[in-house]
Parts: sequence; C-alpha cells; structure tokens
Amino acid sequence: MAQAQDINPWSVTGGQAEDGTALAIDYDALSKKWNTSLIDQAVIERFEKLTGHKAHRWLRRGLFFSHRDFDKILDTYEKGEPFFLYTGRGPSTGSLHVGHTIPMSFTKWLQDCFDVPLVFMLTDDEKAIFKDKLTCDETLQYAMDNAKDIISLGFDQKKTFIYSDLKYLGGPFLMNAWEFSKTVTFNQVRGAFGFNESTNVGRLFFPSVQCVAAFATSYPEIWTDEPLEKRTKDIAKIRCLIPMGIDQDPYFRLVRDNAGKMKYPSPKPALIHSKFLAALSGPTGKMSASEPNSAIFMSDTAKQIKTKINKYAFSGGQVSIEEHKRLGGNPDIDVSYIYLTYFEEDDEKLQKIYDDYKAGRLLTGELKQMAIALLQEYVGEFQERRAKVTDEVLEQYMTPRKLEWRGNPNEPPPKIGAQAAGEKKLADRTKK
Ligand code: TYM
Repeated sequence: MAQAQDINPWSVTGGQAEDGTALAIDYDALSKKWNTSLIDQAVIERFEKLTGHKAHRWLRRGLFFSHRDFDKILDTYEKGEPFFLYTGRGPSTGSLHVGHTIPMSFTKWLQDCFDVPLVFMLTDDEKAIFKDKLTCDETLQYAMDNAKDIISLGFDQKKTFIYSDLKYLGGPFLMNAWEFSKTVTFNQVRGAFGFNESTNVGRLFFPSVQCVAAFATSYPEIWTDEPLEKRTKDIAKIRCLIPMGIDQDPYFRLVRDNAGKMKYPSPKPALIHSKFLAALSGPTGKMSASEPNSAIFMSDTAKQIKTKINKYAFSGGQVSIEEHKRLGGNPDIDVSYIYLTYFEEDDEKLQKIYDDYKAGRLLTGELKQMAIALLQEYVGEFQERRAKVTDEVLEQYMTPRKLEWRGNPNEPPPKIGAQAAGEKKLADRTKK
C-alpha cells in the first residue's frame, strides 16, 4: 500500500509506492506542504553580489534548497544592520556523523561570508527528555564531546558562543522561555509535534527553549561591553538566521507564529534548510546516529570509512560489469555519487563523473573509490583539528561574553541600541 513520507524533528521516513518500493524523499512536496520558499537563482545571485563570495557548492547544487525570509537577511546585511546566526545539535551520541556536519559547516561558511555572531545551542535537556534511555548526566557529557567536534569544524572563537542548555539556561534566556511558553497552547505543540495526553510534560515545554534561542535578548552579554543582564527592546530587534536540516522546521514555525507576542517582540527568525545527507543504505533515508550502519561518524578511521562504503553504500550500478557497461548506472540513486555531490568541489569534474557513470564508462567500484577518498580526506582533516581542541579551548567557546564581529564591510559597523547608549554615557562622563 502507498505510504506518505513522514518528516519530523525526531525521525525521517521516505514514502512508499503502491507496490511497496521505498521512495526518495520528495523535497519539493515537503516545501509545498510546509509552505517554505524554494531557493532560486535570483536569491543566490543577490547573495553573491552583496557579499562578494561565490555561492557554496551546497547552495549551487540545491542541497540547501529552501528558506523562510532569507531575502530579509540579505536586506539587513545590505543596510549594514546587525543580525546573528543560530544553529544547534541534540547531543545523543559522543560523536557527530557526517550528516550533522552539513548544516554546521554551512553555518561556518555563512559566518565567514557575513562576519556575524553565531550562537550554537546544545540541547542536552531535549535529548534527556526525548530519549528514554538517556539521563541528563550522559547528555551533558555528550554535549561537551560534541562541542569539541563543533569547534573542530573551524568556527571563529571571537564570533562564536557555544552553550549547553543544562549549564547555561537562566536569567534572560529562561525568562524568555517561560514568557514564550505562556503564548503557546497545547493545541499548538500537538499540531506541530504530534504530542498527546501521555506525553511527558518536559516534552511539552522543551520547544519553548529551542524557540527562544532565536531571540537576541536571550544573550544580552553578546552584544555590548556594558555589563548588561537585561533584555531590552533594542536588542530584541536584532534579526536571526537559522541554518538547519529541514526536519527542525516545525520548531521554528512555532517561534515565527509567536515571536510578536513577547514583551519585547523580535522579528520572525529567517531559516535556511538543507536536504538530508543520505543514509549509506540509500536516498530513501537520512544518515542517522540511531542507526550506526547508516552513518559515517566523524570519529571513524580511514579503514572504517572504506569498509562502510564498500559494504553498505547503496549502488545505482548494474548486477554485473558487463551489464553495467551495456546499460549504464543510475547516479541519482547511487549513494557514493550522492556523497560526491557534497564533497567534490569541481562542478565540471562532477558532471563528467555523472555522465560517465550513466553511460557505463565508470564502474561502481571506481565510483566508490572516489567517495572513499573524499570522505577520508574530510574526516581525516577534521580529526587533526579535533586532536588540538583541549578543555581550555572548549572553555573559551563556552564562556558567555561579548562577541567581536564586523558585519558588512561596505557599511559602518552596526551599533546595537544599548551599545550606542553606552557610548553616549561614556562621552557624557568624559565631558564632565
Ligand atoms: P540534531 O542533533 O538531530 O541534528 C543537528 C543538525 O544536523 C541536522 N541533521 C542532518 N543534516 C543533514 N543530513 C543528515 N543526515 C542530518 N541529520 C541531522 C539537523 O537537521 C540539525 O540541523 N533539536 C536539534 C538541536 C537544535 C537545532 C537548533 C538544530 C537546537 N536548536 C537550531 C538546528 C537549528 C537536534 O536535535 O538536532
């Protein structure tokens, strides 16, 4: 029997055709259903023109395919007004897998292009509440391990604040979360997340926490040198852009619906969505930490990567070499080819691989070898950086502090309201 695809923040399942065949995830249908905007060439060109950076290959190739209000972020950048990036990770395992690093590496690239602050949330509270087998102590430890992985992706320390919910939440952040939760009804969270009367109450509250992380007032210390522990109207106005896998969208529909109801209302956060890096088993599922054979972990050795791809990577090739040469392969469903679309920078080379595989000139074994080499390089370079992340480095990223950033170099540096007021106060004091 035919079955519709089911995508939510905790699981991703592709649909099934009438005859039971698993179907690849239909992203256009998802975008339509959730009413997001597809990223078109005009948006990409405007980004390139404004920032002077060539679009990332994941943007050029439609792997980041959808958005909400990304154009408003470009307006904000163009005017030289402040905004910040926010993304996150739910620490359910000690190591990230390659799929997790896609939205994260893309966030690093956006941070480099826009030169803006980034807040990185580790939802150790979420994972303890949603995974029956995990305790807060375990998820907190995973958060610290994951934070070291995240740092190894290369985020600039001066512009990046990484925090664990279990450790950081208090003061303005918690006030935001409670105030926001007052605007959210049970019907709203049931609609967004499928909760019911037996759902534990922690799960009902948690979305408010993930949501208010998109408000600049949750981190007053980031914005100004003045000791400031208060939420202010000016800080609330700072826009936010959230890069993520599209499974996280339900959270941010909620914050976009309710952001205007806060005491100091914030603009609706803008979102940019990625597709899922396919599971080794094929494009009908996503690489997932809960299925170890579906995933390549950032802690895997070069040998493990080779074995996993050779053994498990779903192939679009034919059953024998003769058949393959005669009929050609199908790169669109071939996981090794799909991985090349993420990690091969050269567009022309990628196109040639596509054509050669389709024509049967390139064999599955050869294609797998290319994917193995690129992934070994990506993970190997990551591991070299990871070995240098000490506890002291971790502490630097996780200390709440003022961040240093510049924004659009063609415009004067943005002034946050409180910062501007602080400067005025200082000027008045020196006058006296
Ligand atoms: P988590 O830990 O499930 O996933 C972290 C990020 O990785 C993305 N992701 C993938 N992207 C591409 N291919 C895959 N196979 C793949 N698997 C996971 C997720 O979409 C996510 O962007 N509740 C969140 C943590 C969080 C968050 C956020 C994420 C808090 N605030 C803001 C994004 C933006 C979670 O458990 O993510």
